Amino acid sequence: MSDAPQAYAGPERVFSGVQPSGSLHLGNYLGALKKFVDLQEDHDCVYCIVDLHAVTVWQDPADLAQQTRHIAAAFLASGVDPEKAIIYPQSRVAAHTELAWYFNCVARIGWLNRMTQFKDKAGKNSEKMSVGLYDYPVLQAADILAFKATHVPVGEDQKQHLELSRDIAAKFNNDFKAPGFFPLPEPLIKGPGARIMSLRDGTKKMSKSDPSDNSRINLTDSADVIAKKIRKAKTDAGVMPESKDELKDRPEVDNLVGIYAALSGQSAEEVLAEYSGQGFGVFKPALADLAVAKLQPITELMNRYLSDLDEIDRILSAGADAAANIANPIVADVRDVMGFWKG
Ligand code: TYM
Repeated sequence: MSDAPQAYAGPERVFSGVQPSGSLHLGNYLGALKKFVDLQEDHDCVYCIVDLHAVTVWQDPADLAQQTRHIAAAFLASGVDPEKAIIYPQSRVAAHTELAWYFNCVARIGWLNRMTQFKDKAGKNSEKMSVGLYDYPVLQAADILAFKATHVPVGEDQKQHLELSRDIAAKFNNDFKAPGFFPLPEPLIKGPGARIMSLRDGTKKMSKSDPSDNSRINLTDSADVIAKKIRKAKTDAGVMPESKDELKDRPEVDNLVGIYAALSGQSAEEVLAEYSGQGFGVFKPALADLAVAKLQPITELMNRYLSDLDEIDRILSAGADAAANIANPIVADVRDVMGFWKG
C-alpha cells in the first residue's frame, strides 16, 4: 500500500480575488481579469472582490462600497459574465473569516514570517502595521479553500501566497487525518501578462501604490492618456531586437514587448519578428494603438455599468447567495473534521 496522501477527488473549481483598493491597472487586467474571462467558458468559476483584504490597510468607509462596485464593473466590462461565473464581495460570505480562523491555528508563524509581500508592504514599519496585514495570506488560503478551489488564476506576485495555501491545505489534511479533504490549489500564472512592470522602471512591477501615475495604465484612463503614457514610457537608445535573449538586460523594452504580446494574443517571439530592427518611434505608436483598441471598449462599458448601480448591486447580491451556498457546507464539514460540538 502506498504511503502517499490520498489525492483530492472532488470537482475542479476556479477561484480568484481582486482587492477593491484604488483603480485597476493593465497588470490587473492582463494578470487576472483577462484570464477570468477565458476560464469561465469551460470551468466552474468564482470571482471575489476581496474587501476584507482591502481593510488590512486603511480604507475610507465613505468609499469602500463604491470601490467594490467599481471592481464589479471592471469584471463585467472585461467580459466576466454573471450567468457563467459567480461575482460577489468577500465580506458578504462569513465562511471566509470563519475558515481563516481555523487556518490561523494550522499555519505556523515561521511560514508567515517568510512572506515577502508583507515585508515589502510594511517596510521598516512592521510593528505599526495591522495584524490583519500580517495574517493576509491566511485569509487568502481560506478564500480559496472555502470553495475547495483547484485552480487559481493570478499574476506572478501571488505565487508565494499560493504556495502557502497549498501548505495550509496539506497540513490540515494531515493533522486532522483527512487525506484529500482539501485540494492543493494550483496557481494559473503562465503567459506574457503574468508580470507587467512599471512603465517608468522595468525592474518594478506595475502597481496601484506607485506614486507616479505615469508608471501604470489605469482601466479608467482615456485614449489620450494611454497614448501619452506609452509615448513617455522609459526605453533605451537601441532598436527592437531579433530575439528574446537580447531582451535580458533591457527590462523596459522586455516589458513593452510583453504588454504587446499579452494584448494581441501573440508570443513575444512573434512580436519581435514583426518589429525587429525598428525604432521606438514605430513600436510605441503601434503599442499605443493596440492598447487603446483593447482597453477603450472596457473603459466605456465600465462607465455604462457604473451608471446603473442597482444592476451591479443585484449581481453582487445574487453572487453572494450563490457563493454562500457553496462555501457554507464546506466550512460546516471543516467543523466536523475538527471535532467541534454540533448539538
Ligand atoms: P490584487 O488585488 O493586488 O491584484 C489582483 C490581481 O492582479 C494581479 N496583478 C498583476 N498581474 C500582472 N502584473 C502586475 N503588475 C500585477 N499587479 C497585480 C495579481 O496577481 C492578482 O491576481 N492577494 C490578492 C487578492 C486575493 C486573492 C485571493 C487572489 C485575495 N484572496 C484568493 C487569488 C485567490 C491581491 O492582493 O491581488
